[in-house]
Parts: sequence; structure tokens; C-alpha cells
Amino acid sequence: MKPREIIPDVQYVGAPDFDRRLFDSLIPLPDGTSYNSYLVRGRDKTALIEAIEPSKLYVLEAYLKDVPKIDYLISNHTEQDHSGGIPWVLDRYPGIELLSSEPAKPMLADHLGLDAGRIRTVADGERLELGGKTLRFIYTPWVHWPETMSTYLEEDKVLFSCDWFGSHIAQTGLFVDGADCILAEAKRYYAEIMMPFRKVIQKNLDKIKDLEIALIAPSHGPIYRDPRSIIQAYREWTDDKPLNSVVIPWVTMHGSTGLMVERLTASLVERGVAVHPFNMASADIGQLAMALVDAATFVVAAPTVHVGPHPMVFNAVVLANALRPKVRFATIIGSYGWAGKMVDMVKAAIPSLKVEFLPTVIAKGLPRQADFEALDALADTIAAKHKDLGLS
Ligand code: FEO
Repeated sequence: MKPREIIPDVQYVGAPDFDRRLFDSLIPLPDGTSYNSYLVRGRDKTALIEAIEPSKLYVLEAYLKDVPKIDYLISNHTEQDHSGGIPWVLDRYPGIELLSSEPAKPMLADHLGLDAGRIRTVADGERLELGGKTLRFIYTPWVHWPETMSTYLEEDKVLFSCDWFGSHIAQTGLFVDGADCILAEAKRYYAEIMMPFRKVIQKNLDKIKDLEIALIAPSHGPIYRDPRSIIQAYREWTDDKPLNSVVIPWVTMHGSTGLMVERLTASLVERGVAVHPFNMASADIGQLAMALVDAATFVVAAPTVHVGPHPMVFNAVVLANALRPKVRFATIIGSYGWAGKMVDMVKAAIPSLKVEFLPTVIAKGLPRQADFEALDALADTIAAKHKDLGLS
């Protein structure tokens, strides 16, 4: 199998994975994913950027079958889907130098069982000359691990960005075709793993703002020929200001909580607030995460199981706390049969959300007129809070 040319002397040696449906045993991959590796060939030296997920190592092996010498292996990120093939590459090319960021060195040694003596660290901003091709290493931490860096090919203005700007999508083509579609995939990816590090990513975006970039070649998903749209999208997703929208993870057992969600949704829509309800009995948590990227308010809507929130909704609560979206307000609505500590349990489960709690609405059994009126009042409050933030 021949490496695939992206531009002269820069080749793709990665693998799409059309069949993968779950990442980290958590993240749905409705469109599969890809593990991208790249060869950069200078006049004098050749570098391999990243070393693929172990399950697809045979693809990298096939691409490199007729590549007798590689001088450098650049590890932008230690996670296994980027580094799993490193031991094989080191065996295949005994003289190769493995380069990583300083924080990555002990991590690569720990995660892959490598001898740390085989790893040479590169400094932020350091250059590597290949002969007519110059690689510059740019530390871009927390996208989404602490050690991550990007590699910039100066002559051709290619940013090998690792996880950030990536998307979980498998396709045979190497380039983005259909910017809107790929932005949705990229947003899903950002939401699922990078949202907690929004503030650091703002700084990383500032760091590359004056970099001339002709191509962004991420480690997952297709390559951007026009990087402006994805960079602008990242600016918006990481921006401190939310949108005029509410996310409601919910389930219902006997219909009571479902009626309450319907009423609150209708009331909010009447007041000009967008609502994203997710029935957690069937929802794609990737869609939930995407909606949380922009939402100003998080409403947890759950019936009570024994004394606590329904576990399927509680799962969404735990996830939201882990993802740390920019939501400003939160509350709990729902129902119970005979007793409940749902409100206390949900509040205690979201310490990472820096939110103002709004009034809760909890019905005993079927909601009655007073409960519906309380939901309308809650919609008034949410709409007013959003207006105060200048959201419309
Ligand atoms: Fe693509 Fe952080 O792994």
C-alpha cells in the first residue's frame, strides 16, 4: 500500500475505522472515526507524525512496508489511539528518534512501558530541519491531555493539530468536503473531550492566531483545506458567552415528569428561548454534550427512583459536571411518589458547574395546575435571566 499524497512530500499513512461505534466505552461514534498519521519527507530526513491506534496498526505497517528509513517519530499526544503503534515503529526503525513534549516523556514511558532514554523532548517553539521542510513544535496543552502539542510544517503552512480540530468520522477521502457537515462532527468531538478545558483552548487559539495556516491536518477526521471555518467555530464554542438556550436531560416513568418537560419546553419557546430536551432512555449523549457547548441553562428533569433521581438522568448530570460547560443557571424539575432527596443529590453532583440555582419544581405524582403555573414562572425567570445576560 502506497502512502497517499496530501501535498508534495507530505503523505497520509493513517486509517479510517468505519466500524467503531464507541470511544472510551462512553462516547458514541455514529460515523466511525479515523486515526491519522503523516509522513513528512525532507531532502535529508523523514519524520512520521503519530503512530496510530493499535487495532489499525496493520494499516500503518502496510503503508510503511516500502519505507526503509524514518529518522524521527513525533508523538504529539500520548493517548493510545495516537501512540499505540510507537513500540512497533521503534522496533521497525531501530535508529529512529522519538520526539515528544517535555510533559509527554514520563507519560509515554508509563503508558507504553518505553525506556524513557529513547525519548528526546522538544521545547515549545523548537524547530526540526528535515532539509527543505522545517517542523516547529507548538505546545498546545489540554487538548485534551496536559502533554499535547501540535506540529507545524513551516514551508507548506500545515498544522498537524492532533486531537484539536479533529472529528470522529470515517471516510475514504482525505479532505473535508461539506464544511457544515464536518463542523457538526467537530463540535461533537470538541464537546465530548475538550469542553472542560475551554479556557486553556482559548489561550491555544490565541497562540496560533498569527500563524499562517494553509491546511489543518488533525489526527481524527478529514484535513481542512480552508481552516478558517473550524478555527472560527472553536472561537465560538470556547467563548465565555452562552446562547439563549436550555438543555433538559429527562426521562419519565409514569408520565408525570414528561408532562412537566412538555410544559416547561412550551413556556420557554413562547418566551423566545431555544430548548434542547433529551430523553435519556434513548438519547445520544454526544448530542447532549453538543447542546451543552452553548446552553445558558441546564434543567435536570427526573422522576424519583427510591429517594434519588432516575439513574438515566443522573448519568447525564454526572456527565455534565465532568464536561464543565459554560452554563450559568441550573435547576431541577420532576416528580416523586412518596419521598425524595432528588434535589439535594443533583445539586451535590454538579460542583464543577459554576451556576446560579433557580427555583425547583417538584410534583407529587401527576403535576397539577399549581405545578404547571410554577413551571411557567420558572420559564419567566429563565427568560429574564437570559435577557439580563444580553442573550436573545
Ligand atoms: Fe485521539 Fe486524545 O485521543
